[in-house]
Amino acid sequence: MEVFEAIEKRRTVREFENESISQEIIEKIINAGLQAPTNDHMRDWHYIVIRDKNKTLKLLDIIPKGISDEDMEQLIKDWNLKDSEQQSCYRNAVPKQQKMLLEASVIVIPLLKQKTDILHPDNISHLNGFASIWCSIENIFLASTAEGYGCALRVPLGNEGEYAREVLGFPNDYFMPCFIGIGRPKADADVVKQKDITVKDRIHWDIW
Ligand SMILES: Cc1cc2nc3c(=O)[nH]c(=O)nc-3n(C[C@H](O)[C@H](O)[C@H](O)COP(=O)(O)O)c2cc1C
Repeated sequence: MEVFEAIEKRRTVREFENESISQEIIEKIINAGLQAPTNDHMRDWHYIVIRDKNKTLKLLDIIPKGISDEDMEQLIKDWNLKDSEQQSCYRNAVPKQQKMLLEASVIVIPLLKQKTDILHPDNISHLNGFASIWCSIENIFLASTAEGYGCALRVPLGNEGEYAREVLGFPNDYFMPCFIGIGRPKADADVVKQKDITVKDRIHWDIW
């Protein structure tokens, strides 16, 4: 698939077919992740790929299984989500946070080596490792799309990251930015409409 086609086709998918993915394809997708640009030339990244459903259940046990309508409306207020399309996106996504990862054929946990306190950086360079792993994550999304798969993403809330460390046993100096679920999108998967943005409105030639 040509790069612009993969960029256009990549969408967050939160409903997957019950289907496995071959090890060869997973390795191809993660290898695309490993070719992303990196701040210090080291690509000190690891990826835990979870296929075992018992392990998946344990890992996801901490994620809320759904949300009541009342709590959903409260969340929209608390997070100050004003835009109606943005609200629709959250109404669609929040109730699926656990199920989308449970349904995915594999869960990938990307890990970066973090030498400083990521939540208290002294300067922007201390976030370079974090920025780099997100380049790797986007490569994983695009490669998955090119192979006919889709991805769901969750940023760990509360102590989900520390719980994942316990369940998966990754070292203390590695940091987990997100959970990625990869699978074959359901034929009727509900994909949230992207906001329409015109490139000409966002480019500022020579000066803002
Ligand atoms: C940094 C980042 C954090 C995100 N966190 C979550 C998340 O916790 N749960 C979720 O379902 N989607 C999450 N998403 C996916 C977004 O909801 C999604 O990318 C956005 O709505 C645009 O839709 P699209 O990916 O289909 O273009 C996240 C995306 C990014 C880039």
